[in-house]
Amino acid sequence: MVSGHPLPGTGAVTGVLEALAFLRDANFAQQRFEQLGNVYKTRLLGQSMVFVRGGVAIGDLLAQPDATEGWWPESVRQLLGSRSLANRNGAAHKARRRVVGQLFSAAALRRYSPEIVAMVDELTSELVGSTGPVPLVERMRRFAFAVIATVVLGLDAASRDALFVDFEIWTRALFSLPLAIPGSPFARALAARNRLLGQLQQVLAQARQRAEAGLPLSGGLDLLSGGLDEAGLPLDDDDLVEQLLLLLFAGYETTASSLSCLLLAVLQDPALMPWLQGELDGLSWPPTAELAATAHDAAVAPRLNAVVQEVMRLNPPVGGFFRRTTRPLVLEGRQVPAGCVVQVALAASNRYRVADSAQLQGDDLEQFRPQRHLEAHDGLTLLPFGGGERVCLGKALAELEIRLMAVGLLQRVRFSLVPDQDLCLQLIPSPSPRDGLLVMADHRG
Ligand code: HEM
Repeated sequence: MVSGHPLPGTGAVTGVLEALAFLRDANFAQQRFEQLGNVYKTRLLGQSMVFVRGGVAIGDLLAQPDATEGWWPESVRQLLGSRSLANRNGAAHKARRRVVGQLFSAAALRRYSPEIVAMVDELTSELVGSTGPVPLVERMRRFAFAVIATVVLGLDAASRDALFVDFEIWTRALFSLPLAIPGSPFARALAARNRLLGQLQQVLAQARQRAEAGLPLSGGLDLLSGGLDEAGLPLDDDDLVEQLLLLLFAGYETTASSLSCLLLAVLQDPALMPWLQGELDGLSWPPTAELAATAHDAAVAPRLNAVVQEVMRLNPPVGGFFRRTTRPLVLEGRQVPAGCVVQVALAASNRYRVADSAQLQGDDLEQFRPQRHLEAHDGLTLLPFGGGERVCLGKALAELEIRLMAVGLLQRVRFSLVPDQDLCLQLIPSPSPRDGLLVMADHRG
């Protein structure tokens, strides 16, 4: 028997008006937290939903994995597929995490790092040779997609471009109404999904043939061989390709968003670059082979780490993630029944501190101030990569990509913003400057 106070709620009955407000108002969750507290319930289109923010409530949720399971909106669930680890729970989820996690081990990252460095070098050459405005958002998206498709999955350029066309059709419908009416975005996305799975099957088959023939391999797919499911049986290809599709979904927009927001922050704040440059100029490029997997991490580049943390605090690439309760539980003293979808509101949490100590008062959480992460007690609970049993599988790769891009570019390229562009962020699917972050670039002499 769990006991706690009753859950405060918005009183929404059908959830239609709440759903409209949710779609239109970026401060939807924030306003309700201010009125109702850190754990409250509402209804969105007939679905009862509990929103939580702050370290205490989120900590309570993540500490009780046996009382929750993963949850995604129906459109995402169908497009990812029933075999995807994102849609699995318990032993089936754990087994697939173990298999896919091999693609992100330290040994795997050591293998990927030189290729990522080469991509950063290629982009640097392109930028310093450019004579007109360059849209950095597009370049960051291209880079983030190439890291997964080429560096991790081992695709050549032609196969990668073919995959990208279907991938864009598929992603457009991820958060749409899941109605497969002929010609609708969702129906087109389902068809694109089948083609994507077919292409990924071929990628797997080619990797296997090369391994059997003793030919050199590109990518990391050989690391998956011998992967076992929860019954100890080898994962079949139909299963594996759904996990690979998940990687494209999970690792592309998110990483591209954090890179674009990082460059935007550096370009918008005149005091930031000199502060950061003091550290960047002392870092080795390319990183040495021994440090390939951990290059430029917080131990050697604390300022860069603080900037990345601050970018993700104010503009988390994933604004929130979900769980469904399978048993009643108590979150920050509030009773949440079984069968509720819980949304962990990361964006709202990141601008909220559990208890403002006297020492922290006056520290404005709306302000971009990376130095706060270098102070002893910033009082924040930041979980841009989620937490607990479903914590982001690609965290180490994403962090490495971001550090390599930041150091490789900012050491060698000087940027200036093209005037008269909209630098506000569009928030869906992940934060990104509206006009594509147009810059002029030249060599930093
Ligand atoms: C800055 C970049 C990224 C951010 C902010 C991010 C954030 C997240 C978040 C918040 C979750 C949900 C965690 C939860 O439910 O507790 C997640 C899950 C996941 N992420 Fe990432 N991610 C990023 C990049 C990547 C990359 C590069 C990959 C792989 C190529 C990846 C693969 C995954 C996978 C497979 C899951 C599902 C884990 C599970 O359900 O067990 N992510 N990520």
